[in-house]
Amino acid sequence: MASGRLAIAATAVLVGTLGTVGCSASRGESGPTSVVADGASPGAADSARRHAGRIGAPGIGDPDFPTDGNGGYDVDRYRLKLDYRPDTRHLSGVAGIEAKATQDLARFNLDLSGLKVGQVTVNDAAAQFQRSGNELIVTPAKIIPEKSAFTVKVTYAGEPKPVRDSPNLGTYGFIPTADGAFVACEPNGAKTWFPGNDHPADKARYDFEITVPEGLTALANGELVGEPSTAGGKTTFTWRESHPMASYLATMTLGKFELRQGKTAAGIKNIAAVDPRYQSSLDSLYTLSGKITDYWSTVFGPYPFSSTGGVIDDFAAGYALENQTKPMYGGFKPGDDIIAHELAHQWFGDSLSITRWKDLWLNEGFATYAEWLWSEHKGNATAERIFRSHYSAGADAAIWKYPPGRAKPEDLFNSSVYTRGGMTLHALRQRIGDPAFFTLLKTWNADHKYGYVTTEEFVALAEKISGKQLDDLFNAWLFTPKKPTTW
Ligand code: TRP
Ligand code: ZN
Repeated sequence: MASGRLAIAATAVLVGTLGTVGCSASRGESGPTSVVADGASPGAADSARRHAGRIGAPGIGDPDFPTDGNGGYDVDRYRLKLDYRPDTRHLSGVAGIEAKATQDLARFNLDLSGLKVGQVTVNDAAAQFQRSGNELIVTPAKIIPEKSAFTVKVTYAGEPKPVRDSPNLGTYGFIPTADGAFVACEPNGAKTWFPGNDHPADKARYDFEITVPEGLTALANGELVGEPSTAGGKTTFTWRESHPMASYLATMTLGKFELRQGKTAAGIKNIAAVDPRYQSSLDSLYTLSGKITDYWSTVFGPYPFSSTGGVIDDFAAGYALENQTKPMYGGFKPGDDIIAHELAHQWFGDSLSITRWKDLWLNEGFATYAEWLWSEHKGNATAERIFRSHYSAGADAAIWKYPPGRAKPEDLFNSSVYTRGGMTLHALRQRIGDPAFFTLLKTWNADHKYGYVTTEEFVALAEKISGKQLDDLFNAWLFTPKKPTTW
């Protein structure tokens, strides 16, 4: 499920360095070695010809994150079978990946960080594989023809390690906790626990079958399929997310949890879970999440997924992540502002996904503005008042030096992307008026439901709906390293 509009930019660069790898016997890891003859044999020229132009790019084409994601295929569904033991921190997994080739594929990459791969099959036939950094390079026994569907199965195991990238992105990915794991993967930490196309430009459906020691609960996106089943001291939880989801929104958070399940007033399934340390917050998490989901449905358009809710774990992350259907709060009781933020992301960021991280203000600016809308709705400070208080920052303030419309890879989550991104929306609202502004928010969602969005498309839609030329406004607010004076 890719956007189909990303350039495959990185191909040429890496083909040079990895060119021989896929055609030789796999080194170090056990894989069948007889698929392609080596350089000395008469078949080599032939095989080189067969491979030319048929190698999936090692990156999906995000210029700021050149090795994130991969080219040459679109994933339709992940079937993840996972077994985790908190005592040994050992994960064993089988990842089934159903994909469609977007070109002939003699070779393609998956993203995977650490963990030991035991076996890879493509369409049930053993495939060669090779590791290189965070790339798992797969050479199927037969070339996969363009447009054909294919299935990859990766058997793997080991001790998952989070990505540690402070001060920029902090610690994220699969993070072991005292009683399990806290799994929060933005922007590219899904590779710490399963092999895949780890970039939001290729969304897919997910099935999770997660086995944990009896007494623990495994939480993933979407809804439970059937009842958890216990045998031999282990319990298996089957979750299904049946709507397209970016890899960074996938979770397998597990540990001791108290659950409350039911429906929101408007009838949306609601699932809240808290670590026992936050037991007294379970009811408020459940109730507020339901109320806010219902309210956003009236402002942004129908709730896009099959359930809402939230998770509070005792891991002291100090942050929250908008995991699809189950925002996760790390080590604190969330107030209604942050719940409003994470649930707004279900529309802006989750249903509508960015294809390049530099467009991140389309997620964070909108979720921040949603906090102000919630405050206004509750009769607290209006969005106008919050805008004014941020605008009062002096001309030298850092926020004016960082144009939020192009989030920088080395400082992706800069507060400008959040706050000045939100201010951009308020400036727009003042310029085009409430009726056009709120029509725009709903139309933006309806037009791109479960899809992919860019800043250029948002600007174009704002101009179309308002009938106004808005270049000056967006240039000043999103793209200029200077305090804007226009709205
Ligand atoms: N997107 C999160 C928010 O709602 C913040 C965030 C960025 C994050 N990277 C993360 C959370 C990694 C958890 C893990 O503002
Ligand atoms: Zn956010």
